[in-house]
Amino acid sequence: MSKIKYFSENLEVQNKTIILRLDLNVPLNEKIIQDKSRIVMSLPFLKDLIKKKAKIIIVSHLGRPKGVKNNKLSLAPVYKFLKEQLKTNVYFFMGDINEETKDKFAYLKEGEVILLENIRFFEGENKNDDSFAKKLAGLGDIYVNDAFSCSHREQASIHKITKYIKESYAGPLLQKEVAAINAILENKKKPVTCIIGGSKISTKINVITNLIKNVDNIIIVGAMANNFLTFNGFIVGKSLLEKDTKEIIANIYAEAEKCNCNIFIPEDCSVSNDFDGSRKIKKLESIGKEEIILDIGPETIKRIESIIDKSKTVLWNGPAGYFENKNFLTGTLAIAKKISESTSKNSLISILGGGDTISAINKSKDNFAFTHLSTAGGAFLEFLEGKDLPGLNVLK
Ligand code: 3PG
Repeated sequence: MSKIKYFSENLEVQNKTIILRLDLNVPLNEKIIQDKSRIVMSLPFLKDLIKKKAKIIIVSHLGRPKGVKNNKLSLAPVYKFLKEQLKTNVYFFMGDINEETKDKFAYLKEGEVILLENIRFFEGENKNDDSFAKKLAGLGDIYVNDAFSCSHREQASIHKITKYIKESYAGPLLQKEVAAINAILENKKKPVTCIIGGSKISTKINVITNLIKNVDNIIIVGAMANNFLTFNGFIVGKSLLEKDTKEIIANIYAEAEKCNCNIFIPEDCSVSNDFDGSRKIKKLESIGKEEIILDIGPETIKRIESIIDKSKTVLWNGPAGYFENKNFLTGTLAIAKKISESTSKNSLISILGGGDTISAINKSKDNFAFTHLSTAGGAFLEFLEGKDLPGLNVLK
């Protein structure tokens, strides 16, 4: 199998224009960044390129605007933060990306940075469009993907761009992520438990079918669990649900039985009538028609803790509840605490992944200890499945 081409320390970059794909997809509330971890993790390489006098064009997405400009998903707050962090001129480009754009960037000097506005404002990005990828590639001399967490996306700034630029490499953060996850997977000890939560149901539900073959237990929490509860006959009120998942879930249960993998779903939950509300603990049988499930309940937490106690490796992606409201952060922090304690005291091997998972646990004042904390959510899960990620494939 061919290897990923990594950016080398010795590569001459002075006066070269580097198109740097980062994952600056951070949670925002009223244009205020709620968790800066992803930006902070990207800074060392960025600073290194500045020191080496490269000209840098940063490309990132934020949220899922689907090819339409949406002020709420502007990277402007990220730009402000970058400007504070970097001791050089940082510019924000909100214009179109076309044949003239390169000339417009003539002002960029060595060691300076341009951040492009949310790349998903352009239709060509999501469509992995050749013509858009070519225009984007035309802006620079070298392409570096330092966004492992986006490498499962077949999108222009991750995938097709590499077809139209001479040199493409993976950046050091991506390299670190791949190395850490590979090392853990090679040395993983059984029983292996995978905890999957969060609200990006459509991204993850198919992943579960493939994970079943590699793990002993799968614990389903977060909004994803609502579909499993419905499948098992419970009424989930106004909770978030993905359409048409009955067949996938039936298949998950059938595969799990074949592979001797245990599937655990919540046994109780915390609900409210709205996302900003306070919490009520409920048994699954008594969820009201107007209620929304927003966290796992105390019985479920106990069950998960006991499964973690019996596990030697735990992989976790996606919060257990609507962590944006602290009333529904309890389940996520209880899981984090248990994994952290077992990692320190019982040499549990633990990998956590995902922007939301990191944001959620950063809401705690505790210092948690995990074997590896990954910036990636969906990409991390697909990598665990053993899939060839399109964004990594093109760097081989
Ligand atoms: C993530 O948050 O996992 C990455 O930024 C990818 O985002 P996406 O799931 O919207 O492609």
